[in-house]
Amino acid sequence: MKNLNICIAGLGNVGSAVVGLIDKNSQYIKNKSNLTINIIGLSAKNRDKERNFNVRDYKWIENPIDLLNINDLKPDILIELIGYEKGVSYELVKTALSQKIHVVTGNKAMLAMYGQELFRIAEQNQVSLLFEAAVAGGIPIIKTLKNNIFLNKVKKISGILNGTTNYILTTMETQNKSFEDVLHDAKKRGFTSDNESKLDIGGYDAAHKLTLLSTIAFGVNVDFNLNKVEGIEKITIEDINFVKHLGFRIKLISESFLINDMICSSTKPKLIPLDKPMANVDGALNAINVETDQLENLYLEGEGAGGLATASSILSDIFEISNNSKFTSIGYNINDLKKYQKFDSSNLESKFYLRIRVKDQPGVLSKITTYLNDSNISVEKILQTPDKKENNIPILIITHKIKTSELLNSVNKISDLEFVNENISIIPIE
Ligand code: HSE
Repeated sequence: MKNLNICIAGLGNVGSAVVGLIDKNSQYIKNKSNLTINIIGLSAKNRDKERNFNVRDYKWIENPIDLLNINDLKPDILIELIGYEKGVSYELVKTALSQKIHVVTGNKAMLAMYGQELFRIAEQNQVSLLFEAAVAGGIPIIKTLKNNIFLNKVKKISGILNGTTNYILTTMETQNKSFEDVLHDAKKRGFTSDNESKLDIGGYDAAHKLTLLSTIAFGVNVDFNLNKVEGIEKITIEDINFVKHLGFRIKLISESFLINDMICSSTKPKLIPLDKPMANVDGALNAINVETDQLENLYLEGEGAGGLATASSILSDIFEISNNSKFTSIGYNINDLKKYQKFDSSNLESKFYLRIRVKDQPGVLSKITTYLNDSNISVEKILQTPDKKENNIPILIITHKIKTSELLNSVNKISDLEFVNENISIIPIE
């Protein structure tokens, strides 16, 4: 029988679910793994908040740093679920690692920004800093990459890594609602908050997660600055409806691959053909696809957020530590990670969807196609649809493959034409 003493800092949805799960499944865990998990201390901002367990059954510690020494008892593992990229969580994790205490965290923002330093401290102190819960909630992608397919040569990793934005995009389509209305609804349902929504909507939360995936998949330094990030703020319900008509769905896609000895990591909205699995990932679910030299498409889909699903990942990290795992936290020794230059993704070729709203007057279509033609942009499909607003009709275009930089050049010129009414929507196609 193995005993592990753990303490938990942060009792939001995930922290509370971890306590409830360990309490409910303690006998099952013992029977299955010979492991007894003792929660020796809890700390959070508000002791009196209503939770799914009775806080009075546990030792309450006001200052989270005191979790690291409770009446001279040092925990085996600190579970950090406070969040935020710096501040208390960073200090707490750094101190715990320096005191040779293993850390399990769900804090992707902190790791994406300070992971290089924190993983080094963990390595120097021969403890683990595990973070399955930081990427895609309950989907075991970190262990899959780090433990199971580590000897594959990863070609590309891509996916939907943010549940809130996927919920918003899906609900806009199914309920035919505006971005603002559904964002309001997502906050009411607790998927995101005023604090978090900028990270979610702006694509930063997904890019934090992609930073960690890129490190494990390609051995790249943990460096958030390698990401190009674009959120879903500009996606309109009319574009969602138009692209559906053309056989696509808009998804916030994070992807990372090596090219010309550089790393290309981006998070941005893309059009996915309706017959691809990634187009049909609904609500707050996440999905990840890994292409390797040995696996054409390893596709994982599941709950990317939520208390219980994320608690499953926390438990898997506790279990890994209980097995005295020899795996390092990120698969590599920190000195073996490489510094890669950032590949400028505007040099990549892709097909694009364009939506141009124009005044309905003779010669408009031919002028637009002439501008595209002058820039060698070949049109695969062009559609002018009738609209209630007669003087503001949409023209939809799907281009053949073209470099982003070249397309932008041409679109900027078209934007300046006097009959063009609004900003032109430009979304790359997968
Ligand atoms: N805010 C995240 C999301 C969940 O919406 O996916 C935690 O990573």
